[in-house]
Amino acid sequence: MDVFHSRQHIMNPMRVDKFYRFCKTLNLPNQSKIVDIGCGKGEFLFRLFEIYKISGIGIDKSPYSIDECRRRKQVKAPEAEIRFLLMDGKDFEPDEPFDLACCLGASWIWNGIRGTLEALKHMTYPGGLIVLGEPYWKQEPSDEYLELMKVNRNSFHTHYENVLMGEDLDLTCVYTLPSDHEDWDFYETLHWWAVSEYADNNPDDPDLTEIWNNMKESRETYLRYGRETLGWCIYVYRFQRYTNFS
Ligand SMILES: C[S@@+](CC[C@H](N)C(=O)[O-])C[C@H]1O[C@@H](n2cnc3c(N)ncnc32)[C@H](O)[C@@H]1O
Repeated sequence: MDVFHSRQHIMNPMRVDKFYRFCKTLNLPNQSKIVDIGCGKGEFLFRLFEIYKISGIGIDKSPYSIDECRRRKQVKAPEAEIRFLLMDGKDFEPDEPFDLACCLGASWIWNGIRGTLEALKHMTYPGGLIVLGEPYWKQEPSDEYLELMKVNRNSFHTHYENVLMGEDLDLTCVYTLPSDHEDWDFYETLHWWAVSEYADNNPDDPDLTEIWNNMKESRETYLRYGRETLGWCIYVYRFQRYTNFS
């Protein structure tokens, strides 16, 4: 079980009302076809179904996530043509392209933003959309922070670099929605809350000490370094049909 995220359906640093507003901003044609790689609890697909009656596929390699998606589908959208596949996202080969391909917070699947944009473009019709949730450096990270996060400086880029990253792939960035402190605090503090409650309700869990210490370590990393250093943003890119501007 994923104790950290047990109080939230959106597993990325964006508060619920803002994320739902973003879903409306997309203004998709009804019945669009969507793929979401690293779909977590399926919230993006469920929300798009509610607004646009989309169909699509959610993919995640965590059995817990896929069980949760299937369980939630029965409750939220039993009639929806949405399938959830338990598999590694990098092995997914679509039969035909989608109107929108998405990866929110799992670009490591294709070794970072560049590989992710290439992979998602391969799944999308020209004229379609790519939705990518990706970190960016707000300031140069310290060595201590990189060590605690187990990433290197080149794992992520600046916001400016992320916006332009798709340019030579004919992907035009058309919208950005960065997370602010309220979004990040919403996301991070709900982990503390979830672990605190879990400890009281499951005092005999043999993993409890490890879960508690993980929470303390991630809280320390966030408060001391991450809050001022690491940004996060939802980027929307359009797969440009016409590119002959010279
Ligand atoms: C940070 S969570 C984001 C979940 C969801 N996109 C959201 O924003 O609510 C990352 C998700 O990616 C999944 N994941 C990690 N590696 C993956 C892989 N190689 N293939 C598919 N899913 C993967 C994890 O299981 C997790 O559910």
